[in-house]
Amino acid sequence: MASRIGDLNGKAAIITGAASGIGLALAHALAAKGVDLALADIDANGLEAARAELAPSGRRIFTRVLDVSRDADVRAAALEFEAQLGAIHLVFNNAGIDMSGTLESLSEEDWTRAFGVNVFGVIHGIRHFVPLLRRHGGPAHVVNTASGAGLWVHSEIPMGAYAATKSSVVALSEALEQELRGTRIGVSVLCPGPVATPIAERSPHSSERLRASIAAGASPQKVAGQVLDAICAGEFYIFTPTRMKAGLEQRFGRILDALERQQVAGTPT
Ligand SMILES: NC(=O)c1ccc[n+]([C@@H]2O[C@H](COP(=O)([O-])OP(=O)(O)OC[C@H]3O[C@@H](n4cnc5c(N)ncnc54)[C@H](O)[C@@H]3O)[C@@H](O)[C@H]2O)c1
Repeated sequence: MASRIGDLNGKAAIITGAASGIGLALAHALAAKGVDLALADIDANGLEAARAELAPSGRRIFTRVLDVSRDADVRAAALEFEAQLGAIHLVFNNAGIDMSGTLESLSEEDWTRAFGVNVFGVIHGIRHFVPLLRRHGGPAHVVNTASGAGLWVHSEIPMGAYAATKSSVVALSEALEQELRGTRIGVSVLCPGPVATPIAERSPHSSERLRASIAAGASPQKVAGQVLDAICAGEFYIFTPTRMKAGLEQRFGRILDALERQQVAGTPT
């Protein structure tokens, strides 16, 4: 169990990918709990629309256009948000993109973009936003958005590159939790199944099957509610409704079987 942040009222949060989908739903759910917001996204128009939607909440809301794949953008946003909001208690490294397609079909640009946004976006958030959580010494929490695909590679929808980025986010989050043990900063990794957002429509090579699966997914509002409950409960892995249990059992069963078969006498490592 991660450490617990407790009551969210009066706290301040940074959300990346806040102009749409899960990030926007998190912004609404947090504002309803009395949290002030720093919203970041690459989509300037979407951010402005989010600010207008959230204004009636009465919370303090700041926005910044940034590209999470750029270290300098995230560093500058961290400084600006701290100057505007003061103590930051919650960070959601949520911005992400789909990168469907078979491994051989993707271009170098596709690969660079997928790892730039999905992996380096989280790395930059860890390097520049997490220090803000340390500064005030009070309870705090960071949530990295991975995916169910970070734990289990779908056998029928080709999205291995996306899975590779999200499996990196799971590993980064597990490492971050270990490194922050003993501090008052909790960590969670969000591993959603399909969530009904525009992510697949924005994707360069998404399949009809992926689009249909996402359109039939959980509502972002429901997911946001689950995330806030999980933060308060100190859960590390956060799952949304998904059919991947059998896939996970198969994957981990195969790994453990191989380990068992190949154990040789000697010093275990
Ligand atoms: N929708 C799903 O089924 C699903 C499932 C598992 C995981 N996820 C993950 O959830 C997160 C949110 O996705 P969503 O479904 O809400 O999608 P979305 O497309 O609705 O929202 C993603 C947001 O991230 C922003 N963004 C994209 N690239 C960016 C960049 N370089 N810098 C800053 N902002 C950028 C987009 O403008 C958008 O506002 C992503 O990390 C995604 O991989 C989504």
